[in-house]
Amino acid sequence: MSQPQRVEHLSTDKGSVPVYATGVVEQPWDSYTATDHSVWSTLFRRQREVLLGRACAEFLASQDEMGMGEEMIPKFADLNDQLRAKTGWEVIGVEGLLPELTFFEHLANRRFPVTWWIRRPEQLDYLSEPDLFHDLFGHVPLLMNPVFADYMQAYGRGGVKAHGIGSEALAELTRLYWYTVEFGLINTDEGLRIYGAGIVSSSGESRYCLESPAPNRIGFDLLRVMRTRYRIDTFQKTYFVIDNFDQLFEATGPDFRPYYEQLGTQETIPAGNVLATDRVYQRGTGEGWSLDGDV
Ligand SMILES: [Fe+2]
Repeated sequence: MSQPQRVEHLSTDKGSVPVYATGVVEQPWDSYTATDHSVWSTLFRRQREVLLGRACAEFLASQDEMGMGEEMIPKFADLNDQLRAKTGWEVIGVEGLLPELTFFEHLANRRFPVTWWIRRPEQLDYLSEPDLFHDLFGHVPLLMNPVFADYMQAYGRGGVKAHGIGSEALAELTRLYWYTVEFGLINTDEGLRIYGAGIVSSSGESRYCLESPAPNRIGFDLLRVMRTRYRIDTFQKTYFVIDNFDQLFEATGPDFRPYYEQLGTQETIPAGNVLATDRVYQRGTGEGWSLDGDV
C-alpha cells in the first residue's frame, strides 16, 4: 500500500484529458477534512431527496442496509463487512481512473474500485472524472443485490476477454456498461426507475432521464445497445430500460465472441436514433440535442 495521491484529469484548453492511476490504496479516512465530509453530506442529502420515487427500490434499500448515511464519508472497511457477507464483493480504494484492463480484472474478482477522494465544494454539480461520491454513492449500493453483483462480475470477465480480442470489441462492450451500469433505467410496477450510477449521482440527470420529453426511452436489447453511440458531455439522448436485473444477467451469459463478429459487419447507431425494431417507451422530442459529439 502506498501513500494515496489525488489523481485528477488534466484541464487543458482543449478540455479535460484523462490521467490514469493503477495502485490500490488504503482509504486515508482520518485525513478527510470537515469540508470533505460536508461535501458528502450535502450531496447525499440532496440526492436522496431527488431519488425518492425516482431510483429503484433496491438501490435505496441497499444504501440503508449497508449503512451508507449522510453524516460523514463512510469507511470502506465498514461497508465491506456488509458487502462481503451479502454478495462477496468488496470496495477497494484507488487514486483515480484505472486503465481498462486493470478495471476489468478487479470486477472479475468481485472488487469494485472507488476513488478515495471527494470533489471540492465548487464542483458539487459537475466534475469530469469519477470521484468518491460518484463511485461510492452511485455504484456500490447495487453490489448488495445478488443478481446485479453477478452481472458486474460477468462484465469484468467479459472485459478481460474483449481486451484480448481488440478495440472494436472493447468499444462495443463499453457501450453496454454505459447504457446499463452508468445510465440504465428499469421498469417497475410503479413506473420507470433509475439504477444507473451516472444518473443517481447527478441531480439534473435524475430528473431529466425520467421526466423530460427530450430523450428516447427504449426497451433493452443487448446487440442494439452494443451498437449505440453515446454522449459524454451532455445528458443522454437515449436511455435503455431493462425489465429486471435477471434480464441483464441472462443477456450477458453467452460467450460474446459471435456477437462481436456479427457487430463487426454492422454500422454503429447514432445516440438519438430510434429503429423500427425498438420497443419504445417514449420517442424523444430531441429538444436541446447537439447534432454532433456522439462518441
Ligand atoms: Fe461510473
